[in-house]
Amino acid sequence: MTSKVNMEKVASLCKRRGFIFPSSEIYGGLSSCWDYGPMGVELKRNVKEAWWKAMIQERGDVVGIDTSIMMHPTVWKASGHIDSFTDPLAECKICHLRWRASDITDNKCPQCGAALTEPRMFNLMFKTFMGPVEEETNTIYLRPETAQGIFVEFKNVLATSRKKLPFGIAQIGKSFRNEITPGNFIFRTREFEQMEMEYFVKPGTDERWFDYWIKERLEWYIKLGIRKENLRLRQHGKEEMAHYAKDCYDIEYLFPMGWAELEGIANRGDYDLSQHAKCSGKELDYYDNEEKKRYTPYIIEPSAGVDRSVLALLIDAYHEETVEGETRVLLRFPIAIAPMKAAILPLSRNERLAPLSKKVYAKLCHNFMTCYDDSQSIGRRYRRQDEVGTPFCITVDFQSLEDDQVTIRERDSLAQIRVPIEKLEEILQAKLNGEPFEATPLWATRQK
Ligand code: GAP
Repeated sequence: MTSKVNMEKVASLCKRRGFIFPSSEIYGGLSSCWDYGPMGVELKRNVKEAWWKAMIQERGDVVGIDTSIMMHPTVWKASGHIDSFTDPLAECKICHLRWRASDITDNKCPQCGAALTEPRMFNLMFKTFMGPVEEETNTIYLRPETAQGIFVEFKNVLATSRKKLPFGIAQIGKSFRNEITPGNFIFRTREFEQMEMEYFVKPGTDERWFDYWIKERLEWYIKLGIRKENLRLRQHGKEEMAHYAKDCYDIEYLFPMGWAELEGIANRGDYDLSQHAKCSGKELDYYDNEEKKRYTPYIIEPSAGVDRSVLALLIDAYHEETVEGETRVLLRFPIAIAPMKAAILPLSRNERLAPLSKKVYAKLCHNFMTCYDDSQSIGRRYRRQDEVGTPFCITVDFQSLEDDQVTIRERDSLAQIRVPIEKLEEILQAKLNGEPFEATPLWATRQK
C-alpha cells in the first residue's frame, strides 16, 4: 500500500516555493543532503515548537537539555554503538560498489550484475579527529542519536532539577549516520534532526509507561493535524530490535513509497545507565526516598525525526483540485503548522494602496508570521500563497481607503469575508485557536 501523493511533485513544490533545496546545488549537490529554505525553516520550527510544548512546557515532569554533538569516544563504546551500530554490506567484485545485504537478491550487483563478496559489517557512525593530529587516539564520532547526551547528563539534571521518578529529559538536535542507502527525499539522510525524550521510571513500572508513551505519541501526531488513517503502530520483531531495546514500537506513516517509520518508541530497560556506570566508574543510580533504596531506573524512549515529521506533514497537506477549469495546488497545513499565517496583498502596486497595506502588515507581524507581497497579479499571488499553505490572504483594495476594511480569503474553502482592520488581529487569533471560518461574526460581510 502506498500514499496517492507523488513524492516528485512534493519535492518539486518544495524547491519551487522555498521549502527544501538540494544542498550545495551550485556545485552539483551532495548526495542526500538538503537545505531548508525560508518556508521550510518556518515549518520545521513549528514542528519542533509543537513537540517542545507538548513534551516539556505542558507537562510538569519533563525538562529540556541541549548537549554537545561531539562526545567522549568511550560514550560510544559504552552505548554499544562501536560494536553493534552496523549494517552488513557486500561489495561488487567488479565495480566495487557496496550494497546493503537487505537490498540484494541472488548475490548479484544491482548495478553491473557481477558477483558480490560475502557481506561484512560496516559501522554507520561518522568518524573524525579532534585536534591537529590525525591518529587513532584522537578519533571522535559525530553522534548517531541525541539520546546519549541525555544519559551522561542524568546525574547533573537530577541534582539540579530535583525531579523525582518518573521524570523525563528531552532534547532536539542533529544526528549523523553514514547511511548506506539514503533516499526518498528527506526520509533517510546522513544528517538529520531528532526530537528525543528519555523517561526514567522505577523498574517494574516500565511496561505501563511504555504503553502510556505509545498512546501519547500517536495522539500527538493526530493533534498535530496528520490524518489518522495515514498513521499506524507496528511492533518490532526480535530480529530487527536495536541492541539496547527490550521492546519497541514504530509509529508509521503512509509515505508515497509505503508504510515507513516516523518515530520509534523503545523500552531501553536499564541498559544505558548501567553501561555508562560500568564504563565511567560513576554511580548513575537513583535513591528512592519512599522505599529507602537505590536502583538503576529503566528508560522509555520516544524518539522522533524532525525531517520525517516535516515530510509527513507536506505529504498529508498536498492537494490538487480543479477550480474554474484550472488546477489549483495547495498545501492544506493545519494553521498552527503553516509557515505563514497571513499574507498581506495590496490589490495592485498603486502607490495609494502601499501606506495602508504596510500599516496592516506592521500591525499583524508582531503576533503572526506574516508576509507582504505586491508583485505580479493578485491571482498569481493567491496561487503562490496556496502552494505554501498560507491559511489567510488579506487584500487591501481602493475601497479599504474609504471604509478601513479589508478582505480575508480562506485557503481551503476560498470563502471571502470583509472585516474592519481594527478587528483583524482578533479574528486571526480566533481562527488560529480553531474557530471555523463560517463562525466569523455577522458584522463581517461575506464576499462572492
Ligand atoms: N535513540 C533512538 C533512535 O535513534 P531510531 O529509530 O534509530 O532510534 C529515531 O531513530 C528516529 O530518528 C526515526 O524514527 C526517524 O524519524 C529518525 N531517523 C533515524 N534515522 C534517520 C535518517 N537516516 N534520516 C532521517 N531521519 C532519521
